[in-house]
Amino acid sequence: MACEFKVVLICVYLILALAAGSSASLNISVYWGQNEKEGSLADTCATGRYAFVIMSFLCVFGSGRAPIFKFAQHCNASGGGCAGLRNDIGSCQSNGVKVLLSIGGLLGNYSLSSTSDAQGVATYLWDAFLGGNANTVSRPFGDAVLDGIDLNIIAHSSNYYYDDLARKLASLYEGGNKSGRRYLLTAAVQCPYPDDSLELALRTKLFHHVWVQFYNNPVCQYDESGDVSSMKMAWDQWARGLPWASVFLGLVAAPDAGIGYIDPQDLVSHVLPWVNGYTNYGGIMLWSRNYDLATGYSLKLLGKGNTIR
Ligand SMILES: *[C@@H]1O[C@H](CO)[C@@H](O)[C@H](O)[C@H]1NC(C)=O
Ligand SMILES: *[C@@H]1O[C@H](CO)[C@@H](O)[C@H](O)[C@H]1NC(C)=O
Ligand SMILES: *[C@@H]1O[C@H](CO)[C@@H](O)[C@H](O)[C@H]1NC(C)=O
Ligand SMILES: *[C@@H]1O[C@H](CO)[C@@H](O)[C@H](O)[C@H]1NC(C)=O
Repeated sequence: MACEFKVVLICVYLILALAAGSSASLNISVYWGQNEKEGSLADTCATGRYAFVIMSFLCVFGSGRAPIFKFAQHCNASGGGCAGLRNDIGSCQSNGVKVLLSIGGLLGNYSLSSTSDAQGVATYLWDAFLGGNANTVSRPFGDAVLDGIDLNIIAHSSNYYYDDLARKLASLYEGGNKSGRRYLLTAAVQCPYPDDSLELALRTKLFHHVWVQFYNNPVCQYDESGDVSSMKMAWDQWARGLPWASVFLGLVAAPDAGIGYIDPQDLVSHVLPWVNGYTNYGGIMLWSRNYDLATGYSLKLLGKGNTIR
C-alpha cells in the first residue's frame, strides 16, 4: 500500500495536495506557553510537527509599563527564572523551527501611547530578545536570539501605533542584518476583515506571516453544518488583501479550545482544497500546543512522507 499510515485522511490529503499541484507539505505554527501540561518548548519543537512555535505572551508593555511575560507555570519570569529557555530555544532552532515571541494576548495589560512609545517598545524587544544590544537591557533568555516578533493584539485597549512599532522593528531588523539573518514579523488577526486592532499595522506591508483566527468568530468561522460560504468569503478577503504575506488558517486544535472547531477530516475534505488554490496560503496555525497534544490534531494532518517545511 502506498499509504500505509493508519489515518486514512493522510492519503486523502496527499491526493488533494498532489491534485492541487503542490508538494505534500504543510507548515504548521503553534502557540506555546499558556499551559504547563503541554510540555517543554524543546519537546514541542522535537515533535517535528511545527515550522513555527510562538511563545506566548509578553502580556504587559507600553505606556510606561515595565514589560512582563508569562508562560503559565513553565517558569517564573521574575528573578530570571526563565533563563533555562535559552537552551530550549537553541534546540528548537537547531531542529529548523522558527521561534517567535508573541506580544499581547487576551488577558494582558498593554497599549501604546505615542509613536515614540511604540518605538521604545520595539527597541526593547530587539535588545532583549533579538539581535540587539545586551548592554542596554537584561536578556531573559540570555544569548538566545529569537527569530522574530508576533503581534497578538486584542482591541480591548487603544489599537493605535502598532504601525509605528512594526516600522521600527523592521528598521532594526534591517540594521541588524549584517549576519544575513532573516528576522520575522508576524501577526494574529480575527477573521472579520479588516482587523479592528491591526488594520493600520498590516497596511505597512511589513508582515511576513499572518495567522487568521477562524474561531471564536461566528460570522466567518466554519459552520458545523458544513457550510463554508462565510469562511470562504473571509479567507478570500484576507488572502487577496495581503498579497505580500503568507496567510495561515488559524484553527483551534480541540473542541474545547474555542468555538468553531473543525474536525481534521472535514478540514481535509471541505476546506484545504479551496485554500490550497491561493498562492499565498502558508499553512495552518493552531491554538494551542496544549490542545494539539491532547487531540493529536497536527498528527492527523501530517503523515509519513509529509514534510512540514
Ligand atoms: C494596567 O497598567 C496601567 C498602567 O501601568 C496601570 O495603571 C493599571 O493598574 C494596570 N491594570 C491592571 C489590571 O493591572
Ligand atoms: C517568582 O519569583 C519571585 C522572585 O524570585 C518570587 O518572589 C515569587 O514568589 C515567585 N513566584 C512563584 C509563583 O513561584
Ligand atoms: C536580511 O538578509 C537576508 C540575506 O541577505 C535577506 O534575505 C533578508 O531579506 C534581509 N532582511 C531582513 C529584514 O531580514
Ligand atoms: C513552508 O515554509 C518553508 C520555509 O519557510 C517554505 O520554504 C515552504 O515553501 C513552505 N511550504 C509551504 C507548503 O508553504
